[in-house]
Amino acid sequence: MDASDPPAHRSALDVDTPLGLAFPDGFAWGAATSAFQIEGAARLDGRGDSVWDTFCRTPGKILGDHNGDIAADHYNRVPDDVALMKQLGLQTYRFSIAWPRIMPDGSGPANQRGLDFYKRLVDELHGHGITPMATLFHWDLPQALQDKGGWESRDVAYLFADYAEVLFRELGDAVPTWLTINEPKTVVQNGYLRGHHAPGYRDEGAAYLVAHHLQLAHGLGVQAFRASGVPGRIGPALNLHPCYPLDDDEKTIAATRLYDGYENRLYLDSIVHGHYPEDVLADLGEDSRMVQGIRSGDLAIISSPVDLLAVQYYCPLFVDCDGECVTKLPTSQADWQQIYPDGMYDILTRVHREYGGLPITITENGLPTLHEPNGDGTVDDLERVQFLRDHFAAAHRAVADGVRLESYHVWSLMDNFEWEQGYGQRWGLIHVDYDTLRRTPKRSALWYKDVIARNGV
Ligand code: NOJ
Repeated sequence: MDASDPPAHRSALDVDTPLGLAFPDGFAWGAATSAFQIEGAARLDGRGDSVWDTFCRTPGKILGDHNGDIAADHYNRVPDDVALMKQLGLQTYRFSIAWPRIMPDGSGPANQRGLDFYKRLVDELHGHGITPMATLFHWDLPQALQDKGGWESRDVAYLFADYAEVLFRELGDAVPTWLTINEPKTVVQNGYLRGHHAPGYRDEGAAYLVAHHLQLAHGLGVQAFRASGVPGRIGPALNLHPCYPLDDDEKTIAATRLYDGYENRLYLDSIVHGHYPEDVLADLGEDSRMVQGIRSGDLAIISSPVDLLAVQYYCPLFVDCDGECVTKLPTSQADWQQIYPDGMYDILTRVHREYGGLPITITENGLPTLHEPNGDGTVDDLERVQFLRDHFAAAHRAVADGVRLESYHVWSLMDNFEWEQGYGQRWGLIHVDYDTLRRTPKRSALWYKDVIARNGV
């Protein structure tokens, strides 16, 4: 960069100047991915179809009709990918396990080749001194279970626990931290309310019944974990959105409070406090499928004690007097993502304050940018550096105020299949060329390496 480009030059200096914020000793830095988004190898080693394979085959559902057949081909590149993580200095890596690789039909005996893949991955991580963190379910439900009703069926929650139990037995000694269900809210809202994620329904009754069954699955998973006796910790992975009223009118404040119920308390109150929020239940109504579907004892299962909370923070929500969301701040390439680092501080301190002071890990935070490699092989994603720096600083402030934050995983390690956006959004620290599958660490990755090395920004 030279003086002919003064504004960029100035911001480049800004991001390269350390803020002087040191994180506590032992704080762990890492990155996150999920199986469907990076693995590819969709038909290898006995993997069954997931609801996302089906959804991708439905014309018009995914931008460009892209699919996960090859994705970043991570399945075939584990040694190289882990070596790259090591080069960047990652200390922790969060990945997910594909249920359809372990049980192609959703239940029954485990597929050894599927298990072996994750054993190889975990061994490779340990070999490089990187701590694995495994998510049991990141949306790729076996299609065979969808055919039996999917998450609308209570049985699927019990089958989830059977599947989880196999993994605790097979990988429990090697994985110190387990996460049950990734972002149940996204399955509810995108999969069942808005229909732009698999399985693609728009059915409010079904959506909130699914919210209950996903949480039942979480609780049964935690119980299976305790029963298995393996060492380690387990918790949920929740995407939380701080909700702010657009103005201080009483009506707006009340609307925001209910909005917050659907966005945050519906998942936190149940898991941590053992009850669903009264205002949300009242709003859904006595006759709703969710309320009708809650059986006695369910909340005790759902609130089985967890060891940590995994928080995923991307953006805030601003709510108007009619209870509608309003875009108030500039967004990233994702039109739903208003950029607001203070939201990270607000959500972390609130969770700490209202939900028992449990240890917290950030399992996702990041943004999409479109940068491609320059002629010299660099990828200049300055916006990602700025975004991460500001969010790290907000997290640091939360730690200074007593939040028990122990690690941070950037979403994502590498560019990948961004659900209904296909490969049209690039969220990675590492650029992936989808023709050659070549990996190129972006400027943000090199900057992150430095953050990790100094344990601070
Ligand atoms: C949350 C999801 O867990 C992840 O799969 C997705 O790619 C990111 N948000 C970005 O949208």
